[in-house]
Amino acid sequence: MRMLCTRDDLRRHPTFGVTVDGEQYLVLEYDNQIKAYRNCCPHLHIPLEWEEHAFLDKDSHLIRCSTHGALFMPDNGECVSGPCAGDKLQAVATRESNNTIYLL
Ligand code: FES
Repeated sequence: MRMLCTRDDLRRHPTFGVTVDGEQYLVLEYDNQIKAYRNCCPHLHIPLEWEEHAFLDKDSHLIRCSTHGALFMPDNGECVSGPCAGDKLQAVATRESNNTIYLL
């Protein structure tokens, strides 16, 4: 298993961006569950964040693409607004052990 981040990382950053084996991911906690997605907007297949670890809209409710403003649900990655509405971020499976989140 490859490590994505720790619980401390998620306390410091509500969304955490990380690169593992050349692939970029974002990790967040939503509704007491860890969610992780490929950091790849379905519109142009480019990374989402505004700056390092900054993936949320101004109200911190939705994941927002910094390029054209597409908005994604944090719980399932569905795009609810923007040029790729109806598409989804690609979710990845994780496992938590000893306050560390791993990619399965
Ligand atoms: S690249 Fe993300 S909305 Fe266009």
